[in-house]
Amino acid sequence: MRAVAVFPHAHEVKLIDVEEPQIARPTEVKLRMLDVGICGTDREISSFQYGTPPDGSDYLILGHESLGEVVEIGPAVQGISVGDLAVIMVRRPCPHAECHACRAGRSDFCVTGDFTERGIKGLHGFLAEYVVDDAQYLHVVPAALRKVGVLTEPLTIAEKALSQALHIERRMPWLAEITPQSPERSELTAAILGAGAIGLLGAMALRAMDIETYVYDRVPPPNSKSQLVETIGARYISPENPSTSFTDLIGHVHFIYEATGVSQLAFQAIMALSPNSILVLTGVPGLGAHKELDTDTLMRNMVLKNQVILGTVNAGSVDHVSAIRHIKTFMERWPEVFDTIISGRYPLDAYRDLLLGQSSGIKNVLSFEPK
Ligand code: BGC
Repeated sequence: MRAVAVFPHAHEVKLIDVEEPQIARPTEVKLRMLDVGICGTDREISSFQYGTPPDGSDYLILGHESLGEVVEIGPAVQGISVGDLAVIMVRRPCPHAECHACRAGRSDFCVTGDFTERGIKGLHGFLAEYVVDDAQYLHVVPAALRKVGVLTEPLTIAEKALSQALHIERRMPWLAEITPQSPERSELTAAILGAGAIGLLGAMALRAMDIETYVYDRVPPPNSKSQLVETIGARYISPENPSTSFTDLIGHVHFIYEATGVSQLAFQAIMALSPNSILVLTGVPGLGAHKELDTDTLMRNMVLKNQVILGTVNAGSVDHVSAIRHIKTFMERWPEVFDTIISGRYPLDAYRDLLLGQSSGIKNVLSFEPK
């Protein structure tokens, strides 16, 4: 079968022909891949800054944002049938007994660092015609979401970030019962940094909770992102000149969701946090930016205003369930935005441009069934 792989030592990214995987255990499922989304992580792996092939392999098959169709199931698989659409989770637990996170099924909180990730760290990914995995890592997606199900994985990053933020909000006694549905949520305000896929999907999740939301991006409006932001009832903000501060633009907010991977921007944004509020970081910056920060002001502010900085990576099963539910809600509320978010759908042969060419669009998808 065809697959797209990176060879870190040879510094190559190429289409390879590998043996089709087969079900080897009764709990496994085989999928024919339909769509694989490309993100910054794939591009970093393709420029050899990140990513690790499986032990004993000189290459890593890329791809971690998946949508596949089940073509075969092992005899012990329950709740999944041939023909179902499914998304496969990225991370697998570490083997260590003392890692409570992995033992509790939350490898996204792994403490040893010995987790693996399909298409990223130690396991082949989903940019291949067929994939086999254990049923416990699959989430069935309704057939109606065929065109957009590939957005599930990036949305899980936002789902985990928001649910963690709500946990932190609950430290305030008057918000102890807050849920995405309770009335208190509409008193919160949020700002998203970065109108990429993770930022925009996060904005949609916030708007689905009727939280007042600003989306900050350096590209001046009007553009397709600013139009999308307006469609979902959020406000698009872009600095007219680089010295304009966040507080000048948006005042103070309860929640800042960072989705740029630009560390300096993230830490500047702290100044726009109101008391008792949270900065959630989701971007993974490339290393090397040593920028000066006014650490005294930052620390003084954080202490005197009870503020929290929270980093979050990957997502749990629960976040996949809520992502799939949310995509359905988004489709009902704002069906037109998906043509903007999925900015391009390309056949597998376009892998080179998407992985190594100039970054463009919001979410580009390699499709095994180009339409
Ligand atoms: C993926 C996550 C992964 C993270 C770190 C992100 O691009 O979406 O699933 O945990 O990279 O490798």
